[in-house]
Amino acid sequence: MTVLELDDIDTYYGNSHVLHGVSLELAEGEVVALLGRNGAGKTTTMRSIMGVTPPRRGSIVYRGENIVGKSPDKLNERGINLVPEDRRVFPTLSVQENLVLAHKLAADPKPIEEMYELFPILDELRTSDAQNLSGGEQQMLAVARALVQRPSLLLLDEPTEGLAPVIVDDLQEMLQAVVDEDVTVLLSEQNVNFAFELATRGYVIDTGSIVFEGSVEEIQSREDLLEKYLAVSPEEVA
Ligand SMILES: Nc1ncnc2c1ncn2[C@@H]1O[C@H](COP(=O)(O)OP(=O)(O)OP(=O)(O)O)[C@@H](O)[C@H]1O
Ligand SMILES: [Mg+2]
Repeated sequence: MTVLELDDIDTYYGNSHVLHGVSLELAEGEVVALLGRNGAGKTTTMRSIMGVTPPRRGSIVYRGENIVGKSPDKLNERGINLVPEDRRVFPTLSVQENLVLAHKLAADPKPIEEMYELFPILDELRTSDAQNLSGGEQQMLAVARALVQRPSLLLLDEPTEGLAPVIVDDLQEMLQAVVDEDVTVLLSEQNVNFAFELATRGYVIDTGSIVFEGSVEEIQSREDLLEKYLAVSPEEVA
């Protein structure tokens, strides 16, 4: 079953035309990567889906319903959860309070204790203020806040941005456990190896257009794509 289908969307910031006919599709339970360099349009795609910057043209169908024009709150209620690239957590609230708040806002939340099982690091930091967490820990908290709401579609916008390599490995391990459950994920990344580990399929975006769509194996084997659009040499791909 198709969970999400973007059909030929155009998105603008004011007069600035950023997305040009973006189409993509996610089936139930799939983890799909959206790969591209700085400024390629990854965040704008996420924001278009979430209703933050709705497209001016094209359709976005979520579980059979066109959601263009619906507010982010409404879409959140319908089960779409965005973890933005600036990983919004409440800085002066503790880890536990951050999770409790997200939990309260959800209609059918998961037990908070499940989040601590998934992210043992957070368990040790329950009483710490979110502002005192490292970047990686904040990212885990941001993901846990989304997951506790039992999303049916999870949008992860560049979760590894700014994280040290060793933390990226931890995050990958924890997200693996998440994606093994039945959640559908759109994962935007510049860190292609991270995305290749978690996703089975991917789209490459450049200057607001999808330039390639295929399996992770296909993308990994396309040296031209890696070099031209993802700024990595084939040797760097694990
Ligand atoms: N609020 C905004 N107003 C005007 N232009 C914007 C705005 N946000 C982004 N843009 C432009 O839209 C284009 C796509 O940006 P976007 O943030 O979607 O890229 P991205 O792929 O997420 O990049 P990054 O990897 O750096 O996060 C860029 O040219 C960017 O300068
Ligand atoms: Mg971005």
